[in-house]
Amino acid sequence: MLLHLSTWPEIATRLEQSKAIVIPIGSMEQHGPNGFIGTDALCPEIIANHAEKSAPDDILVAPTFNVGCAQHHLGFPGSITLRPSTMIASMLDWTNSLVRHGFEKFYWFNGHGGNIATIEAAFSEIHAQRSFDPRGEDNRPGLTLRRVNWWDYKSVETLYKQLYPTGHGMHATASEVSVTYYAYPDHQKSDVEMSPKIAPVGRIGDAVQYRADFPDGRIGSDPTQSNVEDGRKLVEAAAEALLKDIARF
Ligand code: NI
Repeated sequence: MLLHLSTWPEIATRLEQSKAIVIPIGSMEQHGPNGFIGTDALCPEIIANHAEKSAPDDILVAPTFNVGCAQHHLGFPGSITLRPSTMIASMLDWTNSLVRHGFEKFYWFNGHGGNIATIEAAFSEIHAQRSFDPRGEDNRPGLTLRRVNWWDYKSVETLYKQLYPTGHGMHATASEVSVTYYAYPDHQKSDVEMSPKIAPVGRIGDAVQYRADFPDGRIGSDPTQSNVEDGRKLVEAAAEALLKDIARF
């Protein structure tokens, strides 16, 4: 099920069977010369939607939390960021809204490495808030909060290492660009030339340093290798892993 295409009676019925929800979470930031600005939000959304399509009764997918922590990308036009405190507050509000209806298990399905620290901080904030709530004296059932990065599934990692033995990279990676090309083939940028072919690697600081050290936005990658067919394989592997993980969740 997709939450945003469901009615409230359908969600009420669903809650009688399962208290779990998958929330794709990403970022709105530059992804080099041939990657979409929405890449990090699109990847977990595409994978979760693919999983939902193949097993609609097994998974409930929330709308995508599609702007995250991307301060270091603000040197590039189009990037949008939340400050960490805003993101924590927003995640708290999303969670509390859903808790009110009876949801207890939250599977935040992440598409952006720069979100990880803030997602973990938000989890601590959510747990602390519940512990400090005077009604917490009755030891209400705890929430299960989990973060999973889509590229961390073993099967996905094996696949992208096999597809891109060189130039997979750390930002604007060959695999994430392939995933978005699979879902949006009409928007592919197939004739973009990149120099150097494999982007430099280095540390990430603030927006000014990032633009100076990584002038076209990529880190360590050669996403001219990206294509629809690879994207299909990656989405299928990740969706299968997601469904297996949710069954255990
Ligand atoms: Ni990315």
